[in-house]
Amino acid sequence: MPSVLQLALVSFGLLHTTIARPASSWYQASVGIPWQVVLESDIGDLNLPVDVYDIDLFTTPQSTIDQLHSNGKQVLCYFSAGTYEPNRPDSAELLADSADLGNTLSGWPDERWLNIRSDKIVSIMKARIDTAVSKKCDGLDPDNVDGYSNDNAGGFTPGLSQSDSVAFLQTLSTYAHSVGLGIGLKNAGDIVQDTSSFLDWVVNEQCVQYGECATFRPFINAGKPVFHIEYKNQSPNITDDCHGANTASFSTVIKPDESSIPKDLIPCT
Ligand SMILES: *[C@@H]1O[C@H](CO)[C@@H](O)[C@H](O)[C@H]1NC(C)=O
Repeated sequence: MPSVLQLALVSFGLLHTTIARPASSWYQASVGIPWQVVLESDIGDLNLPVDVYDIDLFTTPQSTIDQLHSNGKQVLCYFSAGTYEPNRPDSAELLADSADLGNTLSGWPDERWLNIRSDKIVSIMKARIDTAVSKKCDGLDPDNVDGYSNDNAGGFTPGLSQSDSVAFLQTLSTYAHSVGLGIGLKNAGDIVQDTSSFLDWVVNEQCVQYGECATFRPFINAGKPVFHIEYKNQSPNITDDCHGANTASFSTVIKPDESSIPKDLIPCT
C-alpha cells in the first residue's frame, strides 16, 4: 500500500502537469546584466564575468550547462522556433507536412520558414521546450519569429502576419512559464509593443548598425533586459556599438560576424 507521502507525490505530479506555476517561478533577468552568447559548440570560458550565457539547446552538452550552473550562471537555451533547420534531432518531424514549410531564408539556404499557425509546429516547439526543461535551462531564446517581414511573409498563403507571431509567442510563453522557464523575443521590432508585457527580455542583433535601438526600449521600460549584439565586421566602431544612440542600460556584446556566433567576445571599452 502506498504511503501518504507517495500519494502526495503522485497527486503533486498530476497537479503539476495541469496547473501553471505562480508568476514568480521562472527566471526573470534584470536590466543591464552582462551576458555572453555562443551558438557554436565550443563555448570557451565557462566562467566569464557575466551572469547569463545564451547557448544552443541541442548541441550544448549537459555537462557544460551543469558547469555553468555551478559557476553561478543562468543559461538561456537557443533554438529556432520559426524555421526548419537540418541536423536537429526533430528535423524529420518538421518535414512531415509540406504545408508547414515555406520559403528558404535569404542568407540561410539550409533553413525554411515554418507555418507557426500550425498546431503540429506548435507542438514540436513545445517538445523543444520540454527538452530545455530536461537540460535544466533557465530560459529560452527562440529565434526566427519574424517571418512576417521576411522572404515574402515566409512564402505562405496567406502570408505570416505580425499577429501570427504574437499569438505564437503567447502560446510558447504561457507554456514556458508553466514549466518554469523564462522566454524572450528575438529581433522582431515590429511586435515589441505587443510582446514586452508577457515576454521576459529581448535579444536584438544590430540595432546600432540599423539605427533602431529605441524600438527595443519598451523592454527596458518594463524592467526587462535588452540582450544586444553588434557584429564588428558590419559595425566596426566599438564606441558606437557599445554606447550608440538609445542603448543606455542595454546588455551589449560585440561579435566578429553574424555567420556563426563563436565564443570570441570583443569587450566594450
Ligand atoms: C567612433 O564613434 C565615435 C562616436 O560616434 C566617434 O567620436 C569616433 O570618432 C568614431 N571613431 C572612428 C575611428 O571613426
